[in-house]
Amino acid sequence: MTNILVVSGHPNLAESNTNTVIIESLEQQLDNLEVRKLHQLYPDYQIDVGAEQAALIKADIVVLQFPFYWYSTPALLKKWLDDVFSYNFAYGAKGDKLKGKDLILSFTIGGPKDSYQPLGYNHFTIELLILPLQQTAYLAEMNFAAPIYTHGMVYIPGVYNELEDVQNLALDHSHRLIEQINQLAGSAEQKVAKFVNQWFADFDVLADDENKFLAHLSDDIRMVMPDGEFIGHEGFRDWYAIARATFKPNCEHIVEQLIVTENDKQNAPDGVTSCEAQLRIRLKADTYPDSALKGESINMLVNETWQLTLDDSGHVTISDYVVEVLS
Ligand SMILES: Cc1cc2nc3c(=O)[nH]c(=O)nc-3n(C[C@H](O)[C@H](O)[C@H](O)COP(=O)(O)O)c2cc1C
Repeated sequence: MTNILVVSGHPNLAESNTNTVIIESLEQQLDNLEVRKLHQLYPDYQIDVGAEQAALIKADIVVLQFPFYWYSTPALLKKWLDDVFSYNFAYGAKGDKLKGKDLILSFTIGGPKDSYQPLGYNHFTIELLILPLQQTAYLAEMNFAAPIYTHGMVYIPGVYNELEDVQNLALDHSHRLIEQINQLAGSAEQKVAKFVNQWFADFDVLADDENKFLAHLSDDIRMVMPDGEFIGHEGFRDWYAIARATFKPNCEHIVEQLIVTENDKQNAPDGVTSCEAQLRIRLKADTYPDSALKGESINMLVNETWQLTLDDSGHVTISDYVVEVLS
């Protein structure tokens, strides 16, 4: 199941006409949803960094929900970002805790669409104005999903808009957001990305029980590795024994790139999605002195191509695993 975290950055939802409608609609329609209303949790702006990071770690999809204030997020949400996306959490040598998670910016904008262009009074497009948030996602190795936003969301009685109109726009906004969340949650790419991250996290430990891996390898798995070709579960056991005798535990596989493409649907049985995953992996490891790598510390870049299937329950089975060393 995909866990969804919505971080509400509105400084006062009691006075909101649109963000509040969007959040209520999400609460009614989504399972596995946690909504963190920052104005309620932190009226004094003193963010509990541990609690926020724990909520992020559990999530697969993170939604930042906010009203557009001065071409950016409200100060409360900016403070949340400043405090929570810290060194060795969101970035830095050990800062991979958000890696692979989807980030959706979901925001309401007062000004009309035509004002956000070179000849309009807001001059710049929304896409340009949110670039710092997009880059934040990239630095944290999150997947920056297409943002969901709606213009004309300001309601000032007798001056701007009718309450019913902005609330209808907010409902429409929430439907688009839910569609986006469902697409991400159901996408083969999301499921494979989650699997790949867990696969390498397990490998880093190099535990002596290989059953965790075998559960995801077809009986006739073909592994083409730098040290030879290995076929079937027995082949995997042989290769894993070599890996355990070569690399010391707590090595580090960094997924630098992952591209998942669905193979032709016609060749896959019902309920099964067949995919190819192309990965670029950096392996940093210490090796044993009596291994072929003679105790060297290695920092190696490899391309991997996997053929795999995903069944209805999201279970991944790899049937072909080819590794090519780049450097
Ligand atoms: C402090 C403040 C700054 C705002 N800045 C902008 C802005 O830069 N651009 C814009 O289009 N609307 C701006 N607005 C309008 C809000 O985006 C709009 O009121 C909000 O999205 C409505 O959401 P709500 O009904 O949930 O409060 C601003 C509003 C406030 C109160």
